[in-house]
Amino acid sequence: MKGLFITFEGLDGSGKTTQIKLLHDFLRGEGLDIIVTREPGGTEIGDRIRDILLSKKHAGMNYRTEALLFLASRAELVSKTIIPALEKGRVVICDRFFDSTVAYQGIARGLGEEQILNMSLWATEGLIPDITFLLSVKVSMGDERIKIINRKRDRIEVEKDLFKEKIYQGYLKIAQKNRDRFVILNGGDDIQIVFDKIKDKVLGVLKEKKLL
Ligand code: TYD
Repeated sequence: MKGLFITFEGLDGSGKTTQIKLLHDFLRGEGLDIIVTREPGGTEIGDRIRDILLSKKHAGMNYRTEALLFLASRAELVSKTIIPALEKGRVVICDRFFDSTVAYQGIARGLGEEQILNMSLWATEGLIPDITFLLSVKVSMGDERIKIINRKRDRIEVEKDLFKEKIYQGYLKIAQKNRDRFVILNGGDDIQIVFDKIKDKVLGVLKEKKLL
Protein backbone atom coordinates (compact mmCIF):
# COMPACT_ATOMS: atom_id res chain seq x y z
CA MET A 1 0.00 0.00 0.00
CA LYS A 2 1.23 3.48 -0.88
CA GLY A 3 -0.08 5.32 2.20
CA LEU A 4 0.58 4.99 5.92
CA PHE A 5 -1.78 3.28 8.33
CA ILE A 6 -1.51 4.31 12.00
CA THR A 7 -3.69 2.94 14.81
CA PHE A 8 -4.12 3.96 18.45
CA GLU A 9 -5.01 1.50 21.19
CA GLY A 10 -5.57 1.73 24.92
CA LEU A 11 -8.12 1.62 27.70
CA ASP A 12 -10.85 4.22 27.87
CA GLY A 13 -9.34 7.38 29.33
CA SER A 14 -5.83 6.60 28.05
CA GLY A 15 -5.63 9.81 26.03
CA LYS A 16 -6.10 8.37 22.54
CA THR A 17 -8.47 11.11 21.41
CA THR A 18 -6.16 13.93 22.52
CA GLN A 19 -3.10 12.40 20.86
CA ILE A 20 -4.97 11.62 17.64
CA LYS A 21 -6.10 15.23 17.39
CA LEU A 22 -2.55 16.51 17.97
CA LEU A 23 -1.13 14.12 15.36
CA HIS A 24 -3.82 14.98 12.85
CA ASP A 25 -3.21 18.74 13.21
CA PHE A 26 0.56 18.30 13.04
CA LEU A 27 0.51 16.14 9.89
CA ARG A 28 -1.98 18.42 8.20
CA GLY A 29 0.40 21.28 8.95
CA GLU A 30 3.11 19.31 7.14
CA GLY A 31 0.86 19.28 4.08
CA LEU A 32 -0.09 15.60 4.23
CA ASP A 33 -3.40 14.20 3.02
CA ILE A 34 -4.80 12.56 6.13
CA ILE A 35 -8.02 10.99 7.37
CA VAL A 36 -9.09 10.03 10.89
CA THR A 37 -11.61 7.25 11.51
CA ARG A 38 -12.95 5.59 14.60
CA GLU A 39 -14.08 2.12 15.58
CA PRO A 40 -16.70 0.85 15.84
CA GLY A 41 -18.39 3.06 13.23
CA GLY A 42 -16.96 5.39 10.62
CA THR A 43 -19.34 4.31 7.83
CA GLU A 44 -23.11 4.47 7.46
CA ILE A 45 -23.54 0.76 8.25
CA GLY A 46 -20.77 0.89 10.86
CA ASP A 47 -22.47 3.73 12.74
CA ARG A 48 -25.68 1.69 12.96
CA ILE A 49 -23.70 -1.29 14.25
CA ARG A 50 -22.03 1.05 16.77
CA ASP A 51 -25.43 2.05 18.17
CA ILE A 52 -26.37 -1.60 18.64
CA LEU A 53 -23.03 -2.42 20.28
CA LEU A 54 -22.87 0.46 22.72
CA SER A 55 -26.52 0.79 23.73
CA LYS A 56 -27.15 -0.04 27.39
CA LYS A 57 -30.44 -1.64 26.29
CA HIS A 58 -28.33 -4.55 25.04
CA ALA A 59 -26.79 -5.45 28.37
CA GLY A 60 -27.14 -9.19 27.84
CA MET A 61 -25.54 -9.35 24.40
CA ASN A 62 -23.89 -12.67 23.66
CA TYR A 63 -20.09 -12.26 23.53
CA ARG A 64 -19.82 -13.91 20.12
CA THR A 65 -22.52 -11.62 18.73
CA GLU A 66 -20.54 -8.71 20.15
CA ALA A 67 -17.28 -9.88 18.52
CA LEU A 68 -18.95 -10.45 15.15
CA LEU A 69 -20.54 -7.00 15.20
CA PHE A 70 -17.17 -5.35 15.85
CA LEU A 71 -15.70 -7.34 12.97
CA ALA A 72 -18.63 -6.48 10.68
CA SER A 73 -18.24 -2.78 11.39
CA ARG A 74 -14.50 -3.04 10.70
CA ALA A 75 -14.94 -4.97 7.43
CA GLU A 76 -17.12 -2.15 6.19
CA LEU A 77 -14.66 0.56 7.27
CA VAL A 78 -11.64 -1.23 5.79
CA SER A 79 -13.21 -1.91 2.41
CA LYS A 80 -15.05 1.39 1.97
CA THR A 81 -12.66 3.85 3.57
CA ILE A 82 -9.26 2.62 4.74
CA ILE A 83 -8.02 0.57 1.77
CA PRO A 84 -9.14 3.14 -0.86
CA ALA A 85 -7.40 5.91 1.12
CA LEU A 86 -4.17 3.93 1.51
CA GLU A 87 -4.18 3.09 -2.20
CA LYS A 88 -4.27 6.81 -2.93
CA GLY A 89 -1.21 7.32 -0.71
CA ARG A 90 -3.07 9.02 2.16
CA VAL A 91 -2.24 8.77 5.85
CA VAL A 92 -5.00 6.98 7.79
CA ILE A 93 -5.25 7.30 11.57
CA CYS A 94 -7.68 4.91 13.22
CA ASP A 95 -8.93 5.20 16.80
CA ARG A 96 -8.86 1.47 17.70
CA PHE A 97 -8.48 -1.44 15.25
CA PHE A 98 -8.30 -5.22 15.53
CA ASP A 99 -5.96 -5.17 18.54
CA SER A 100 -9.01 -3.87 20.46
CA THR A 101 -11.02 -6.92 19.45
CA VAL A 102 -8.18 -9.26 20.36
CA ALA A 103 -7.72 -7.55 23.77
CA TYR A 104 -11.40 -6.97 24.67
CA GLN A 105 -13.19 -9.94 23.10
CA GLY A 106 -10.34 -12.44 22.56
CA ILE A 107 -8.49 -12.05 25.86
CA ALA A 108 -10.75 -10.22 28.35
CA ARG A 109 -14.01 -11.91 27.27
CA GLY A 110 -12.12 -15.20 26.86
CA LEU A 111 -13.22 -15.94 23.30
CA GLY A 112 -9.64 -16.88 22.34
CA GLU A 113 -6.78 -14.65 21.29
CA GLU A 114 -5.69 -16.63 18.21
CA GLN A 115 -9.21 -17.27 17.03
CA ILE A 116 -10.21 -13.62 17.21
CA LEU A 117 -6.97 -12.54 15.55
CA ASN A 118 -7.56 -14.91 12.63
CA MET A 119 -11.16 -13.78 12.25
CA SER A 120 -10.01 -10.15 12.43
CA LEU A 121 -7.47 -10.66 9.67
CA TRP A 122 -10.16 -12.24 7.54
CA ALA A 123 -12.44 -9.26 8.18
CA THR A 124 -9.70 -6.75 7.26
CA GLU A 125 -8.65 -8.67 4.11
CA GLY A 126 -5.29 -9.13 5.82
CA LEU A 127 -4.73 -5.41 6.41
CA ILE A 128 -2.34 -4.79 9.32
CA PRO A 129 -1.37 -1.31 10.63
CA ASP A 130 2.11 0.05 9.87
CA ILE A 131 2.35 1.59 13.35
CA THR A 132 0.26 0.96 16.46
CA PHE A 133 0.60 3.28 19.45
CA LEU A 134 -0.46 1.68 22.72
CA LEU A 135 -1.24 4.35 25.29
CA SER A 136 -0.81 2.38 28.42
CA VAL A 137 -2.51 3.64 31.60
CA LYS A 138 -3.37 1.80 34.78
CA VAL A 139 -7.09 1.02 35.11
CA SER A 140 -7.49 3.45 38.03
CA MET A 141 -6.00 6.36 36.09
CA GLY A 142 -8.20 5.80 33.02
CA ASP A 143 -11.27 5.71 35.25
CA GLU A 144 -10.23 8.86 37.06
CA ARG A 145 -9.85 10.77 33.78
CA ILE A 146 -13.27 9.69 32.56
CA LYS A 147 -14.75 10.90 35.86
CA ILE A 148 -12.99 14.27 35.60
CA ILE A 149 -14.37 15.04 32.15
CA ASN A 150 -17.73 13.68 33.33
CA ARG A 151 -18.26 11.66 30.17
CA LYS A 152 -21.10 9.16 29.90
CA ARG A 153 -19.93 5.57 29.81
CA ASP A 154 -20.99 3.12 27.11
CA ARG A 155 -22.14 -0.48 27.69
CA ILE A 156 -18.62 -1.90 27.52
CA GLU A 157 -17.03 0.82 29.68
CA VAL A 158 -19.29 0.14 32.64
CA GLU A 159 -17.69 -3.29 33.07
CA LYS A 160 -15.91 -4.14 36.30
CA ASP A 161 -12.28 -3.47 37.17
CA LEU A 162 -11.25 -7.10 36.71
CA PHE A 163 -12.36 -6.96 33.07
CA LYS A 164 -10.35 -3.77 32.53
CA GLU A 165 -7.30 -5.28 34.20
CA LYS A 166 -7.50 -8.18 31.74
CA ILE A 167 -7.66 -5.73 28.83
CA TYR A 168 -4.65 -3.85 30.22
CA GLN A 169 -2.61 -7.05 30.52
CA GLY A 170 -3.93 -8.30 27.17
CA TYR A 171 -2.74 -5.19 25.37
CA LEU A 172 0.75 -5.54 26.84
CA LYS A 173 0.88 -9.16 25.70
CA ILE A 174 -0.21 -8.29 22.15
CA ALA A 175 2.33 -5.44 22.02
CA GLN A 176 5.18 -7.72 23.15
CA LYS A 177 4.28 -10.21 20.42
CA ASN A 178 4.19 -7.55 17.69
CA ARG A 179 7.18 -5.38 18.46
CA ASP A 180 7.72 -4.58 14.78
CA ARG A 181 4.67 -2.32 14.66
CA PHE A 182 3.88 -1.50 18.32
CA VAL A 183 5.11 1.53 20.25
CA ILE A 184 4.18 1.39 23.93
CA LEU A 185 3.83 4.80 25.56
CA ASN A 186 3.05 5.76 29.10
CA GLY A 187 -0.36 7.43 28.77
CA GLY A 188 0.12 8.87 32.25
CA ASP A 189 2.99 11.09 31.09
CA ASP A 190 2.55 14.73 30.18
CA ILE A 191 0.56 15.15 26.93
CA GLN A 192 3.41 16.95 25.15
CA ILE A 193 6.01 14.34 26.15
CA VAL A 194 3.80 11.55 24.79
CA PHE A 195 3.11 13.52 21.62
CA ASP A 196 6.79 14.23 20.92
CA LYS A 197 7.46 10.48 20.92
CA ILE A 198 4.54 9.84 18.59
CA LYS A 199 5.66 12.62 16.26
CA ASP A 200 9.26 11.35 16.08
CA LYS A 201 8.16 7.83 15.26
CA VAL A 202 5.66 8.93 12.60
CA LEU A 203 8.11 11.35 10.96
CA GLY A 204 10.72 8.57 10.80
CA VAL A 205 8.37 6.15 9.08
CA LEU A 206 7.01 8.81 6.70
CA LYS A 207 10.57 9.54 5.57
CA GLU A 208 11.34 5.82 5.23
CA LYS A 209 8.27 5.40 3.03
CA LYS A 210 9.20 8.56 1.11
CA LEU A 211 5.88 10.16 1.93
CA LEU A 212 7.58 13.28 3.29
P1 TYD B 1 -14.69 3.64 21.50
O1 TYD B 1 -15.79 4.36 20.85
O2 TYD B 1 -13.36 3.65 20.84
O3 TYD B 1 -14.57 4.19 22.97
P2 TYD B 1 -13.56 5.31 23.44
O4 TYD B 1 -13.72 6.47 22.48
O5 TYD B 1 -14.05 5.60 24.79
O6 TYD B 1 -12.22 4.69 23.38
O7 TYD B 1 -15.09 2.13 21.72
C1 TYD B 1 -16.28 1.84 22.35
C2 TYD B 1 -16.14 0.65 23.25
O8 TYD B 1 -16.00 -0.55 22.50
C3 TYD B 1 -14.94 0.74 24.15
O9 TYD B 1 -15.36 0.46 25.48
C4 TYD B 1 -14.02 -0.34 23.63
C5 TYD B 1 -14.93 -1.33 23.00
N1 TYD B 1 -14.37 -2.11 21.86
C6 TYD B 1 -14.33 -3.49 21.94
O10 TYD B 1 -14.73 -4.09 22.96
N2 TYD B 1 -13.87 -4.22 20.87
C7 TYD B 1 -13.46 -3.63 19.70
O11 TYD B 1 -13.07 -4.32 18.74
C8 TYD B 1 -13.52 -2.18 19.63
C9 TYD B 1 -13.11 -1.48 18.38
C10 TYD B 1 -13.97 -1.47 20.73
